[in-house]
Amino acid sequence: MLNGNLKLAIQKSGRLTEKSIQLLRNCGLDIDNYSNRLIVSSRNFNLDLLFLRDDDIPEYVQDGVADIGIVGENVVIEKEAEVDIIQKLGFGKCKLMIAIPEDATMMNTEELSGTRIATSYPKILKNYLKNQKIDAKVITISGSVEIAPSLGIADSICDIVSTGNTLKLNKLKKFTSVFDSEAVLIGTKILDPGSEKYILLKNLILRIESSLNARTSKYLMMNVPKQSLERIEEILPSLKSPTILPLADESMLSVHAVIPSDTFWDIQNDLINAGASGLLLIPIENMLL
Ligand code: PRP
Ligand code: ZN
Repeated sequence: MLNGNLKLAIQKSGRLTEKSIQLLRNCGLDIDNYSNRLIVSSRNFNLDLLFLRDDDIPEYVQDGVADIGIVGENVVIEKEAEVDIIQKLGFGKCKLMIAIPEDATMMNTEELSGTRIATSYPKILKNYLKNQKIDAKVITISGSVEIAPSLGIADSICDIVSTGNTLKLNKLKKFTSVFDSEAVLIGTKILDPGSEKYILLKNLILRIESSLNARTSKYLMMNVPKQSLERIEEILPSLKSPTILPLADESMLSVHAVIPSDTFWDIQNDLINAGASGLLLIPIENMLL
């Protein structure tokens, strides 16, 4: 383990595991099949992946066992560890929610006063209840919180909801949202800026940024009549000024631009109405701004 490699902790098995690995692979890191292994090294980057329980990751990073980690923001806040959130990663989006039995008739959050709420996130929940001036009893459970109401040990739960399947399976329904979360990259506060590891970390962060930028952008190519160019340029929400190339037909131009992915469907009609044809929308693998 003392090989000078950057040590990155990720969730051993759960919602974030597969997507964390995918993010690293999108960054060009060659990572072997990892099933049932505790540590895996990348073949082409000085990085060791540590597979840990997500709840333990903030503390391991704080203590320097791992240099960085990928974990839900909900866990970072709950654990109050001395770590920096380096970057939000745009996946693993979910909500920490209070959920009640399907047949419960509660309407307002004030009605939670005097009831018992089971959770693995006592700090975040207590903070929420305090801000909302709700006087409820918080029952801390480390796992399988969703069965607490049917066991009769709580009236409701406060837990992570992503697809909502877990709630449905346990005959619970959403009541109110407490905290919005997503996967984040966290780092130790003690990494020496002059160190080899720091240089590795900077390199990895650059790759992650480039891969995240690429995911939210697309490369648009189209043919445009010369006289429409000005109008087309007005429509394009381009990140940088578009590339304009001549075509064999001298009355036409080829226009290339990087655009935010979600804008294409909004602007395609305007582009066509302005005379654009042969529109091609291409995914981008990496993008350094
Ligand atoms: C949460 C939560 C549920 C599940 C909800 O666990 O405890 O088990 O996700 O997801 P769903 O709405 O898609 O069914 P999480 O992955 O945060 O980690 P944990 O197992 O460590 O609690
Ligand atoms: Zn967990």
